[in-house]
Amino acid sequence: MIITRNIEEFNQARGNLSNSIGFVPTMGALHEGHISLIKQAQEDNDIVIVSIFINPTQFLEGEDLETYPRREQGDIEICKRAGVDILFMPNISDMYSSDELKILAPLKAGYILEGESRAGHFDGMLQIVMKLLNLVNPTKAYFGKKDAQQLSLIKKMVKDYFIRVEIVACNIIRDNQGLALSSRNIYLNPSQKITALKLSNSLNVAVKSIWQGELEVDKIKDIMVNVLDGVTKIEYVEIVDYEFRAIDKIKINNTIILVACFVGDTRLIDNIWI
Ligand code: PAJ
Repeated sequence: MIITRNIEEFNQARGNLSNSIGFVPTMGALHEGHISLIKQAQEDNDIVIVSIFINPTQFLEGEDLETYPRREQGDIEICKRAGVDILFMPNISDMYSSDELKILAPLKAGYILEGESRAGHFDGMLQIVMKLLNLVNPTKAYFGKKDAQQLSLIKKMVKDYFIRVEIVACNIIRDNQGLALSSRNIYLNPSQKITALKLSNSLNVAVKSIWQGELEVDKIKDIMVNVLDGVTKIEYVEIVDYEFRAIDKIKINNTIILVACFVGDTRLIDNIWI
């Protein structure tokens, strides 16, 4: 595995590779969710490139930029073991200059749900993903459905800005109790971990009621809110179509059920695609 720590080193390693390249952008503290993206990229491509960069512009004032887990050595080992070809770990000054032009998330899809709770988060996320896609120039780039709205906005950016890359959506990886894996799960103490299971439970209960014939979005949301009783704060429970438009009734094969909650000080999200 070639480890590159700045643009020059990266460009040298990336060179003029003409093979198919799969790219997995991350913020590190790698877990099985990230590894599943790497495995998928390996299956589909000759070369796999992973980036680890804690992107400051997607953290809002007061969020966990300073405390976000940093595990450089562990991450390098995980990438080596997973068979990554090139690891890119730039510094902030490699990725940003002063007085940059900005990417803004679309006004509707970018400022609801996560974009409403975390106004500006998606602008910074899209900005760094645009930079990374341009720099890496991969054949395919891999993103988890865990961050459903992020995935949808990246697809839109690629389409609107004619970026030559295929975006591949990967399934959510969970622990054996159902908790969606996240780098932020390490903030949870044992009792909070149990409370955190209410997120995936609420989604399971929603799916079960859909199987039983309940298609009214408002009713399903009520059922979910009941299951979530006991979390520190529900930020939203929402049901949208694959384009993130509001719907009144579940549409099979075109519905995402999303939930965001605080458990203690930790903000968790989860979703399921129907
Ligand atoms: P990060 O949170 O490190 O996630 C990197 C990728 O892993 C994202 O595409 C995310 O959706 C995916 N992922 C995280 N947990 C997952 C799980 N349990 N199952 C499947 N996939 C999972 O998302 C980011 O970083 C950043 O916003 C980034 C896109 C790198 C831009 O800075």
